[in-house]
Amino acid sequence: MTALEIHLDDQDLARSLRTDVVTGLTATPKWLPPKWFYDARGSDLFEDITRLPEYYPTRTERAILTERAAEIARVTDAKALVELGSGSSEKTCLLLDALLAHGTLGAFTPLDVSSAALGEAVDRLTERYPGLAVRGVVGDLTRHLAHIPDGDNRMVAFLGGTIGNLVPDERAEFLSNLRAALRPGEWLLLGTDLVKDPAIVVPAYDDAAGVTADFNRNVLRVVNHRLGADFDVDAFAHVALWDAENEWIEMRLRATTAQRVHIRDLDLTVDFAAGEELRTEISAKFRREGLEAELGAARFALRHFWTDPAGLFAVSLIQAD
Ligand code: AVJ
Repeated sequence: MTALEIHLDDQDLARSLRTDVVTGLTATPKWLPPKWFYDARGSDLFEDITRLPEYYPTRTERAILTERAAEIARVTDAKALVELGSGSSEKTCLLLDALLAHGTLGAFTPLDVSSAALGEAVDRLTERYPGLAVRGVVGDLTRHLAHIPDGDNRMVAFLGGTIGNLVPDERAEFLSNLRAALRPGEWLLLGTDLVKDPAIVVPAYDDAAGVTADFNRNVLRVVNHRLGADFDVDAFAHVALWDAENEWIEMRLRATTAQRVHIRDLDLTVDFAAGEELRTEISAKFRREGLEAELGAARFALRHFWTDPAGLFAVSLIQAD
């Protein structure tokens, strides 16, 4: 029996997909939120991305965590770990192993929108860590932070650089909601990709094997399957561009020819001009000073900022003020 607490069911998900698709595809310019990439195929494609030679974030973050896990356990004495948007549990195990060896940890709560992925992770971790109370929360990290289990000296881990998928206003709201769910002294472990030469960032989002292009187009397949749309997926080209002013990568899908798309379940028809672009993701890159300012505005204090030797990625240990 899997321990899952459901705050978001298939109907809620279907409703928010419909809202997002109507809002995004009737806007100028058109956009879709990145959270809809991750059906089973999209999650597999993302796993493939993490193994690409060009995609440095995953392996770099893993190396930082491997080096720092014991220190994180010593500094925090965390009694409970909550992981947001947990996905695969490889990095989680690094943290759980260190916190269990340190002797303080009693509970682990992954929170994710995908009940299927979460159920699997909870089953696997329950088996691997028999002494640990593992309980999954199905929820959206922008809406259900109030439902993380109560406790004392908790640490919330938000890894992978996923905070960069939020625009600055959404980040401010996310951080303030998270801060409201924590008590002073509790912890946030945050993974952020860092600003660097675009010659390194851009290929990470436009790999030679075309896996990221396939991942990007997957959002159209998701809309086709879930809402009965008729996107001709191959008529959209993958675009990854560095926005130097905002210091983020933007992924887009460019209609290679004029397209008319019908979204049956919404009774919506959407026209794309030849060359028109649909924004599917931003992935913001951070600098230490900017991150500290955003954290401070939400009443969080940066205690440690660990990077790899090349300064590609950072793992920050942050405390609620
Ligand atoms: C998992 C959201 C952090 O923004 O780098 C990978 C997703 N998009 N390649 C990222 C992603 C394109 C990834 N995050």
